[in-house]
Amino acid sequence: MSHAPAPAPAHPAPTPVVELWNATKAYPGGVHALRGVNLTVDAGELLAVVGPSGSGKSTMLHVMGTLDKPTSGTVRIAGHEVSALSDNRLSALRARHIGFVFQHFHLAAGRDAVDNVADGLLYAGVPLRERRARARAALARVRLDHRGSHRPHQLSGGEKQRVAIARALVGEPLLLLADEPTGALDTASGEIVMELLHELNAMGTTICVITHDNEIANSLPRRVRFKDGEIVADERPDSREDGVTS
Ligand SMILES: Nc1ncnc2c1ncn2[C@@H]1O[C@H](COP(=O)(O)OP(=O)(O)OP(=O)(O)O)[C@@H](O)[C@H]1O
Ligand SMILES: [Mg+2]
Repeated sequence: MSHAPAPAPAHPAPTPVVELWNATKAYPGGVHALRGVNLTVDAGELLAVVGPSGSGKSTMLHVMGTLDKPTSGTVRIAGHEVSALSDNRLSALRARHIGFVFQHFHLAAGRDAVDNVADGLLYAGVPLRERRARARAALARVRLDHRGSHRPHQLSGGEKQRVAIARALVGEPLLLLADEPTGALDTASGEIVMELLHELNAMGTTICVITHDNEIANSLPRRVRFKDGEIVADERPDSREDGVTS
């Protein structure tokens, strides 16, 4: 009996934004921060990464963001295999596709909000005038257009994080990676930051958020749980809970 070949799908699956395959990260001294992580993040997802301190969450985010290389395994961003790219191509990929937000904001102290945001376009080859114009528009998106001339010490914690979000989004990245973005904020400012992330996601940005806050994690459609360098659970939007055993 012969089998007809399967027909080509009418709509081929879109390329995932992130694919980690068997990613490991070992540090000198015998620390295995990642022990074979497999993770696929599709375009438009909004996922929480949760787990105990030291379980490898930030390490994975850095590997996903191409800030750090895995010891072994494969990382693909928007279909590009990271290890196959030269340093220049990798910087270009990062500048074009990835935005970062960190717990402690990482703003430049002597520069005002507009210039801090404009710096998000430094490696994208955009002229200064346009960088500043786009920075003002990004500040308006995080509702800080009235604070453009303030330097970081003249901003509240929540405002600093909104500037950092504006800097991350000014290049219109495919992927936004946030490591404890509400960790240094009071509840009200944290809620505003999460609302902004939801808004960005609704407009199409794929977002991964590391959080220790259960309430925040539970409010997101997908939760990836880490323990000892491994993903131990991946709770999906359709509420089917996939325990991961390997
Ligand atoms: N540069 C490094 N050199 C050696 N070990 C490191 C380095 N960076 C991280 N580690 C170790 O790797 C493990 C995972 O660290 P990681 O920062 O990914 O944890 P985490 O889950 O983000 O924790 P937290 O919730 O406290 O931020 C930890 O045991 C940590 O001590
Ligand atoms: Mg961390």
